[in-house]
Amino acid sequence: MDQPVTNEAPVLSVDDLSKRFGGVQAVDKVSLDIAPGRITGVIGPNGSGKSTLFNLMTGVARADSGAVTFQGTDITRLSSDRINRLGIGRTFQLTRLFGKMSAIENLVVVSRHDRATAERNAAELLDLVSLGHVRDEYAENLSYGQQKLLEFVRLMMTDPSLIMLDEPFAGVNPIMERRLLDTMRAWLDAGKTIVLTDHEMAIMMEICDDLYVLDYGEVIAHGPPAVIRDDERVMEAYFGR
Ligand SMILES: Nc1ncnc2c1ncn2[C@@H]1O[C@H](COP(=O)(O)OP(=O)(O)OP(=O)(O)O)[C@@H](O)[C@H]1O
Ligand SMILES: [Mg+2]
Repeated sequence: MDQPVTNEAPVLSVDDLSKRFGGVQAVDKVSLDIAPGRITGVIGPNGSGKSTLFNLMTGVARADSGAVTFQGTDITRLSSDRINRLGIGRTFQLTRLFGKMSAIENLVVVSRHDRATAERNAAELLDLVSLGHVRDEYAENLSYGQQKLLEFVRLMMTDPSLIMLDEPFAGVNPIMERRLLDTMRAWLDAGKTIVLTDHEMAIMMEICDDLYVLDYGEVIAHGPPAVIRDDERVMEAYFGR
């Protein structure tokens, strides 16, 4: 428990972060460290605060208290746009695409390159997730799984150093799931860092180097998958009620 997976300084640290919605303490004094060049997983039952934590870490929601530090910079109060420009990219549990824009335009519009370069990059990324044949379809007309894939590759248009994925495998078929995993491994090889949440426990155990387990907004366990798998509080949180 609480052994760091590397001795390197964390790329991002969350310190005592809290967020309440009315009577719900969605995130409760959470502290965690994200090791560089690794995959850190955040797991926990429905409603345990995973998405809220991601939102607090990326400027999408405002923390009541606590701090988020990215590469030495306090980003707790920065806008999501500023945070993205510092190098944190993310996807959403419910995708946030431009519904009335084509698949390829959804990618081109976030690029910081000239149009020709952006289109070339976008076309390559669409092919990577087998979406080339729907490049000119409105995003809103794509299936749920296709929309997840589109948002996944949109991340790569801005080349973030830290990538946060909120349930990337939901609705995605097994073949594409494998392709997403291969892509994530390629990102790691390129020196990027990944934070991930998903309910696909077998995949999380397979690919994460380090896991944090949330329950009612609190971290109830932290460690490598081999340790988390046998943790009684984790079993209790998932199956005990
Ligand atoms: N905008 C909001 N307003 C009010 N309550 C919210 C809001 N967002 C989240 N909550 C509540 O905060 C708690 C944590 O929700 P959150 O979506 O972060 O959980 P989660 O772990 O991502 O769940 P899931 O696995 O279902 O995606 C839940 O009780 C949820 O109902
Ligand atoms: Mg969620």
